[in-house]
This record gives sequence, C-alpha cells and structure tokens, in this order.
Amino acid sequence: MRSFHVRLFCFVVMTMLMLGALPFSSDAQLDPSFYKNTCANVHSIVREVIRNVSKSDPRMLGSLIYYYYYCCLWQGCDASILLNSTSTIVSEQGAGPNNNSIRGLDVVNNIKTAVENACPGVVSCADILALAAEISSVLAHGPDWKVPLGRRDSLTANFTLANQKLPAPNFNLSQLISTFANQSLNITDLVALSGAHTIGRAQCRFFSSRLYNFSNTGNPDPTLNTTYLQTLRSICPNGGAGNTLTNLDLTTPDTFDNKYFSNLQSLNGLLQSDQELFSTVGASTLSIVNSFSSNQTLFFEAFKASMIKMGNIGVLTGSQGEIRKQCNFVNGNSGLATFATRVESSEEQGVSSA
Ligand code: HEM
Ligand SMILES: *[C@@H]1O[C@H](CO)[C@@H](O)[C@H](O)[C@H]1NC(C)=O
Ligand SMILES: *[C@@H]1O[C@H](CO)[C@@H](O)[C@H](O)[C@H]1NC(C)=O
Ligand SMILES: *[C@@H]1O[C@H](CO)[C@@H](O)[C@H](O)[C@H]1NC(C)=O
Ligand SMILES: *[C@@H]1O[C@H](CO)[C@@H](O)[C@H](O)[C@H]1NC(C)=O
Ligand SMILES: *[C@@H]1O[C@H](CO)[C@@H](O)[C@H](O)[C@H]1NC(C)=O
Ligand SMILES: *[C@@H]1O[C@H](CO)[C@@H](O)[C@H](O)[C@H]1NC(C)=O
Ligand SMILES: *[C@@H]1O[C@H](CO)[C@@H](O)[C@H](O)[C@H]1NC(C)=O
Ligand SMILES: *[C@@H]1O[C@H](CO)[C@@H](O)[C@H](O)[C@H]1NC(C)=O
Ligand SMILES: *[C@@H]1O[C@H](CO)[C@@H](O)[C@H](O)[C@H]1NC(C)=O
Ligand SMILES: *[C@@H]1O[C@H](CO)[C@@H](O)[C@H](O)[C@H]1NC(C)=O
Repeated sequence: MRSFHVRLFCFVVMTMLMLGALPFSSDAQLDPSFYKNTCANVHSIVREVIRNVSKSDPRMLGSLIYYYYYCCLWQGCDASILLNSTSTIVSEQGAGPNNNSIRGLDVVNNIKTAVENACPGVVSCADILALAAEISSVLAHGPDWKVPLGRRDSLTANFTLANQKLPAPNFNLSQLISTFANQSLNITDLVALSGAHTIGRAQCRFFSSRLYNFSNTGNPDPTLNTTYLQTLRSICPNGGAGNTLTNLDLTTPDTFDNKYFSNLQSLNGLLQSDQELFSTVGASTLSIVNSFSSNQTLFFEAFKASMIKMGNIGVLTGSQGEIRKQCNFVNGNSGLATFATRVESSEEQGVSSA
C-alpha cells in the first residue's frame, strides 16, 4: 500500500516534469545557472576564445553581437543561421541582407570545439551565441548581464523566412516599430537594441542611396549631416564597390558606449534606420534617444533588459531540437544517406530514438 503511494507520487512528479518539457511554453525555462552542474566553466571557456580573437580583430565583437541579433530577432534563438547548405537544408547565410554580412563562423566553431573539449554534448550552439553576445559587449567595454541559458538547436533552417523577416536598413520609423512590435519588442527595446550599432561596420550598399538618390528623389537624405555626407561620399563613390566597409559609429567605432545616440543628435547616424529614431518629426523615439545620450547607465540598463528579452524569442527548450555536435550541421550530418547510417548505428547500440 505504502509502496503504491510512493509509486503514485513518483508517477505524478514524473508526469509534471514531462509536461514541463513539452513545447507549450516557449521562453519560460531559460536559467543563467542552467549549466551549473554540467559545464560550470562554459562562460570562461567562451570568453577566452573571443578575447584572444578580438586582440587581432576588434570587429569580431560586433560580428558576434550581430549573430545574436539576427538569430534571435528574426528566426528565434535556435542557431539556425549557423547551418550550412546540405541536400536537405538551404542555408540562411546567403539570404539577401546576410549575404557577406555574416562573419566569424570559424570563430563560433572554435568556441564550440573548446566547449566540446571540456563538456561534450552539453552546450547548445544557440547558447554559445547568447554567451558570445554578452561577452563581446563586455570586451568592448559595454554592459554585462547574467545570460539566461538552456536553449536547444534547430533541426532546420528557413531561407525564405530569413529573407522576409529581416528589417531593411532603409526602413522608416513606422516600419521599424512594426517589425519590432511583431516580436513583442516595444520602442524602448528598438532604441536600446539599435544602440548596438555603437560598434561594428556596415557595407556601402546598405546606405549609399542616402548619399546620392534618397527615396528616388535624386538628392541625398536631407536628414544626413552635410559634413558626414561628404565623408561618406568619399568612402562610397557613386557606382563604387558596394561592399566597402565603414564604421557604424563614427565617434568611437570599437567602444561600446552611448556615443551612437549623440551621433544621432548631430545627424550622424549611418543607416537610415539609425537616423529615423531621432530625426522623424514628432517621433516617439526621440526622447528615448535623448535620455540614452545624456545617461550611459540608463542606456546600459535598458540594453541589458532588451538583450535578455530578445534572447527569449522563439527558443527551443526541454526535448525540442537538439544539442548540435558541430554548429554547421544537424547531428548525424545531413541528407538521407547519412540519416540512414545514423539509424543503423543507433540500432546496433540498442539506442531507441526518443
Ligand atoms: C533596427 C533594425 C536594424 C537594422 C535595419 C540593422 C541593419 C544592419 C546592417 C545593414 C548592418 C551592416 C551589415 C553589413 O554591412 O554587412 C548592421 C550591422 C550590425 N548590426 Fe544591425 N541592424 C538593426 C538592429 C540591430 C540590433 C538590434 C543589433 C544588436 C542588438 C544590431 C547589431 C549590429 C552589429 C553589432 C553590427 C556590426 C556587425 C559587424 O561589424 O560585423 N543591429 N546592422
Ligand atoms: C590565440 O590566437 C592566435 C592567433 O591570433 C592563435 O595562434 C592561438 O592559438 C590562439 N590561442 C588560443 C588559446 O585560442
Ligand atoms: C559552412 O559554410 C561556410 C560558408 O557559408 C564555409 O565557409 C564553411 O567552411 C562551411 N563549414 C563547413 C564545416 O563545411
Ligand atoms: C551573394 O552575393 C554574391 C556576390 O556578392 C552573389 O554572387 C550571390 O548570388 C549572392 N547570394 C544570394 C543568395 O543572393
Ligand atoms: C519557411 O517560412 C515560410 C514563410 O513563413 C513558410 O511558408 C515555409 O513553410 C517555411 N519553410 C520551412 C521549410 O519551414
Ligand atoms: C513608411 O513606409 C511605408 C512602406 O513603404 C509607407 O507605407 C509609410 O507611409 C511610410 N511612413 C512614413 C511616415 O513615411
Ligand atoms: C507585422 O505583422 C503583421 C501581421 O502578421 C504584418 O501584416 C506586418 O507586415 C508585419 N510588419 C512588418 C514590418 O513585418
Ligand atoms: C517596454 O517594455 C519594458 C519591459 O520589457 C518596459 O519596462 C518599458 O516601460 C516599455 N516601454 C514602453 C515605451 O512601453
Ligand atoms: C533616382 O532613382 C530613380 C529610380 O531608380 C531614377 O529614376 C532616377 O533617375 C534617379 N535619379 C538620379 C539623379 O540618379
Ligand atoms: C554635423 O556633425 C558635426 C560633427 O561631426 C557637428 O559638429 C555638427 O554640429 C553637425 N551638424 C548638425 C546640423 O547637427
Ligand atoms: C542615469 O540612469 C541611472 C539608471 O536609471 C539612474 O540611476 C541615474 O540616477 C541617472 N543619472 C542621472 C544623472 O540622471
């Protein structure tokens, strides 16, 4: 009788645990101490690789934050961006806005290798991207935060979706607000997160229409500082190479600070999507730009909160997805032939696929 009760109790507890692992709640289970017992040093392992790379390539800090932005905001934080094309997967890496923008795949792979060496099969690529964003912020002298962890990696990529959902650098304010609102991010999030453009580079093709033929007017963007206009025209000559790079923050290009916002106040935002936050008449975002420009602590606090919020979007948890062994490929490699091999070897080992 007693043993029956114990068993009943166990059954109830296990059912509750199993329900908790079902894919109903999308973002409830992330936890900064997720790897406490399985990979306690993961943060320092990731940090060491990034710190080393950033000594010779400071832009890498921006590139790693860009991954997180791209991945989380438009696809869900499931590392689908890292998947290479195979017979069954069309990689998102070549999607319009990403083409040539995604860099540092080798760095992500080096991080993954270092993490796998210490704790094999435990840490997801999606969590590595989330940790890399926070670590990059700190190494660029920006804020730190406790990164909620426990994401799992996607089994697929969606090239079409990536093309559809990314906001374009020539979006106007109402389009930006709408895109962010669609991901449950409000205007404070929009302004704070855009502040990541305090580091990193952009290619001429993303803003050169502002310099020569803005919205097909035949004139430059009237909201662009005329001194900056001349500088940018010399970097990006009309009809010149679209992939030439320039700094997103002309004041302190590699330092994570609030100069991005004072740049906007001087009409020195690089992308139209940047300047829109300040120079749209009557914009709701204007006072937020002013407050972040006058108080860096306020910006950092908002940035941290919004980064955590963004990191909850579309996560896979529990038994969803998988922990990829190699970030560029779904486990068992790719294609039907390899899948068959995997099933065979699982059967040999008597492993049942859950
Ligand atoms: C508001 C909408 C946004 C638009 C339209 C936008 C657009 C862009 C574009 C066009 C580039 C240049 C890419 C290239 O030239 O290859 C860029 C770079 C970058 N973006 Fe954004 N972005 C937005 C929001 C964000 C957010 C929310 C973050 C992060 C929180 C972010 C972080 C970055 C970083 C760090 C870079 C530099 C990457 C590097 O140097 O490799 N962006 N963004
Ligand atoms: C650090 O980076 C250099 C190249 O810049 C590389 O040769 C070295 O192996 C790296 N060390 C570690 C510990 O990653
Ligand atoms: C994945 O694709 C990228 C190009 O997008 C390439 O540079 C890289 O070598 C590929 N990785 C592997 C492991 O094949
Ligand atoms: C990416 O850009 C290269 C040239 O810059 C081009 O050849 C290629 O077709 C583009 N890929 C996609 C998917 O648009
Ligand atoms: C990709 O996303 C598009 C647009 O939402 C959808 O129609 C399509 O079914 C998705 N494809 C895959 C393979 O999930
Ligand atoms: C923003 O762009 C959209 C789409 O092109 C357009 O319908 C809308 O009128 C624009 N809004 C403003 C304020 O210019
Ligand atoms: C936001 O979502 C709505 C409804 O799905 C859609 O009509 C609208 O185009 C989206 N806005 C943007 C900017 O993607
Ligand atoms: C945006 O959302 C945050 C919470 O995520 C909240 O603190 C802030 O007040 C909101 N801002 C606006 C303008 O609604
Ligand atoms: C601006 O672009 C429009 C549309 O492409 C074109 O018709 C017009 O001739 C361009 N104006 C100039 C001055 O290049
Ligand atoms: C243009 O930028 C310069 C600094 O680069 C600044 O001194 C000047 O005030 C700006 N002009 C306007 C109209 O904001
Ligand atoms: C700046 O913002 C922080 C965080 O909200 C606040 O504690 C501080 O009082 C503000 N400083 C000033 C000078 O307003």
